[in-house]
Amino acid sequence: MSEDQSISKPSESVEDAELVSLNDQKSSGAPQTIGYVAIVISIVLGGLYLVRYSGGFDRDTYLESNSIIEEMAALGGGSGADGDVVEVAFDPIKEGQKIYQTNCMACHQVTGQGLPGAFPPLAESEWVSKDPALLARIVLGGLQGPITVKGNEYNSIMAPLAAVLSDEQVAYVLSYIRQEWGNTAGPVEPTVVAEARADMGAKATMWTVEELKPWITE
Ligand code: HEC
Repeated sequence: MSEDQSISKPSESVEDAELVSLNDQKSSGAPQTIGYVAIVISIVLGGLYLVRYSGGFDRDTYLESNSIIEEMAALGGGSGADGDVVEVAFDPIKEGQKIYQTNCMACHQVTGQGLPGAFPPLAESEWVSKDPALLARIVLGGLQGPITVKGNEYNSIMAPLAAVLSDEQVAYVLSYIRQEWGNTAGPVEPTVVAEARADMGAKATMWTVEELKPWITE
């Protein structure tokens, strides 16, 4: 047995054994820390992935194929061929409801009932089912002065919305209020709104019921 061999032999004494294990810890400290950090990062990223993509573990969220296009095609939402746009049906009434919530609801209320003494109702209002050419003018140009709605007199101000809403948006919101809250009038075409806008030009004052007489046909 040579000197060399005896030196490399581990655990010759208790002291030696301690030294060896101390050295082990020292040298493996850095890789171990990296290992722990990697595990923690994996867990966090995995958690984030689940939160983002699990769909609440709802069975309805599960897609059988990897391609959302194929899935939608299977559901009847388009041909699904390469690069095809999957068409989503546009609903003017839904759009009209959104426009209502943003531009009308503060005054006429979510119920369409308005507020007694301040804002007239749209629900079952005799005005809402009149000529679309009249309604387009009210929304575009605003309204002021006395008006009777469902037997109650109002004398207030509705600001013009011509600068805020497009012809399509006015048509959608009018179509919406004409079939909501028990109202049963037909939809309004954007062309009717465009004609009203062109005819009004740059009207300087809000409409009065008196001025609107030519379009109060029923
Ligand atoms: C700032 C409050 C306010 C907003 C916003 C508003 N209105 Fe009005 N609206 C009124 C008032 C007040 C009158 C009555 C005006 C008067 O007294 O001459 C009225 C009258 C009307 C009328 C005729 C009377 C009736 O009740 O049927 C219609 C139709 C109407 N508004 C629709 C709308 C639509 C559609 C919108 C949104 C695009 C809208 N209004 C936004 C306050 C408002």
